[in-house]
Amino acid sequence: MIKIGNVAIEKTAALAPMASVADTAYRTVCKKFGACYVVGEMVSVKGLYFSPQKALDLLSITPKERPMAIQLFGSQPKYFEYALPKVLKSKPDIIDINMGCPVPKVVKTLSGCMLMKNPELAEKIAKCVVKNSPVPVTVKIRKGWDENSINAVEFSKRMQNCGISAITIHGRTKTQMYSGKADWEIIAKVKNSLDIPVIANGDVYSPESAKKMYDVTGADLIMVGRGSFGRPWIFSQIASFLKTGRYEPDPSLARRMQIMLEHIRLICDNKGENLGMKQARAQAIKYFRGIKGAARYREICSRLTTFSEIYELVKNISNDCYLNNGGF
Ligand SMILES: Cc1cc2nc3c(=O)[nH]c(=O)nc-3n(C[C@H](O)[C@H](O)[C@H](O)COP(=O)(O)O)c2cc1C
Repeated sequence: MIKIGNVAIEKTAALAPMASVADTAYRTVCKKFGACYVVGEMVSVKGLYFSPQKALDLLSITPKERPMAIQLFGSQPKYFEYALPKVLKSKPDIIDINMGCPVPKVVKTLSGCMLMKNPELAEKIAKCVVKNSPVPVTVKIRKGWDENSINAVEFSKRMQNCGISAITIHGRTKTQMYSGKADWEIIAKVKNSLDIPVIANGDVYSPESAKKMYDVTGADLIMVGRGSFGRPWIFSQIASFLKTGRYEPDPSLARRMQIMLEHIRLICDNKGENLGMKQARAQAIKYFRGIKGAARYREICSRLTTFSEIYELVKNISNDCYLNNGGF
């Protein structure tokens, strides 16, 4: 177990915040398959002020997701202060501040990773949130803006001095976006320089790489994003590998399809079938990776509009596989 403030979290693998991916349904499924902690999609504090309904939808937390953090982004302390009472109504276990997002739309507003270029403003924001939050506050950063301005260590120390309870670091620069390799050495340097827990993030795609990330970085916790796409069971595999050195192989195709249907059912329950199925297509596609005939299934998937259609597709996949392989 580790502790972020007063929140105890198992030392296995957490789910990274992922806008448009890690919604309630995704988080619930990952939690069910062993994620020890989840972080919600980033929510704009200014959005909570100007178009509250859209942003408020992102604040919901169901009991099965806990412990969970709500992640906020913005560039003006006054909007954080305004947003906090609304955010706290959802009773998040933790509040995370996004200081690592590289997306132009976000950095253009001086939010996300742009705050790493402006540590004074970042400090004002961190202090403001810490002051107004009864729950622990954490910050998520990158390695730095670019290779010529790597400041994760100094920046993290400044954040620690503002009273935050943990820091997550994705070992890439803003200019790298998602290319190249995450630098785990810089995470180790941050860990060695701080007293608060450090959460390591970037490029964990297997139980073996999860263990390696713990070994290389000495982090208190690791966080998995893309490695969970279409395979939420990676969290229980990681937990098992860390504990015993062994883990169950990926589930059978039949079981994978069942998990996918469960996931999509949840999306539709939460968002309604119309919107739900639009978003579900992108999720469903990820569960087909490695399946014989995946390209054809993906193509069919891109046109699905109702839950019963995806149910039929799974039945057809089952029949195809039964005919091709003599059963799953
Ligand atoms: C689709 C997508 C959306 C993301 N949205 C967020 C976000 O809302 N907040 C955030 O801090 N990071 C976000 N990230 C970054 C991830 O949290 C994570 O730092 C990054 O993917 C590296 O981890 P990984 O290699 O395990 O995927 C996003 C990443 C992806 C791929």
